[in-house]
Amino acid sequence: MGKYIIAGNWKMNKLPSETYDFVKEVVEATKGAECEVVCCTPYVCLAPAIEAAKGTHVKIGAENLHFEDSGAFTGEVSADMLVDLGVDYVIIGHSERRAYNNETDETVNKKIVKALSKGLIPIVCVGESLEEREAGITMDLIAIQIKKAFAGITAEDAAKVVVAYEPIWAIGTGKTATDDQAEEVCGGIRNILAALYDDATAKAVTIQYGGSMNAKNCAGLLAKANIDGGLIGGASLKAPDFATIVAAAK
Ligand code: PGA
Repeated sequence: MGKYIIAGNWKMNKLPSETYDFVKEVVEATKGAECEVVCCTPYVCLAPAIEAAKGTHVKIGAENLHFEDSGAFTGEVSADMLVDLGVDYVIIGHSERRAYNNETDETVNKKIVKALSKGLIPIVCVGESLEEREAGITMDLIAIQIKKAFAGITAEDAAKVVVAYEPIWAIGTGKTATDDQAEEVCGGIRNILAALYDDATAKAVTIQYGGSMNAKNCAGLLAKANIDGGLIGGASLKAPDFATIVAAAK
């Protein structure tokens, strides 16, 4: 299916002053990786992260961006700024940003369009709450999130996007989706993409699972046909744990 990608999402963790050494640790621990390895860091950690990853197999991502090119948006960061630093990936529409920062399906779409136009690879997060899962509307909700996220995006561009399926109830809770639950939704996402575009595009898209993926449960999840990697929060903050997950992705 899609290229295997294991991406760390540091969230609001780690200091700029500890970033260089930590990324060097990740580089060392993941030598020989058979998948793409990405560390997504807070904005202020990007420069030292890029410095540490320079000339290595590790790529660096941001955790957000603004959809405008420039202007009066105090506190925001543009795609051009990220590209200028040497950032390759950007997380878009994480459920924490949807919950706390007014991120909507519409802003998610605008950000994906902007990221792609500047050559950044978007990691687009979708996922249902526990209430929505219990109401039996998981796939309906995911279908809406995917269709709105990909609105106006060509097949050629869509193939470059990474989708992260992150059930909200599994994020940071230690409650992982079972291998079959995760596979069911990731396979469903691929079917939605095939219907929106075509089979080849749907197969090219990397679909990650995220939500309490760790060194212990990663092998089963990553063995599933439609799970092409992981977006890793807590376990990405410890290089040996992150490296175990990277080693399971092949
Ligand atoms: P977690 O976070 O691995 O700590 O559950 C995943 C994420 O939110 O991307």
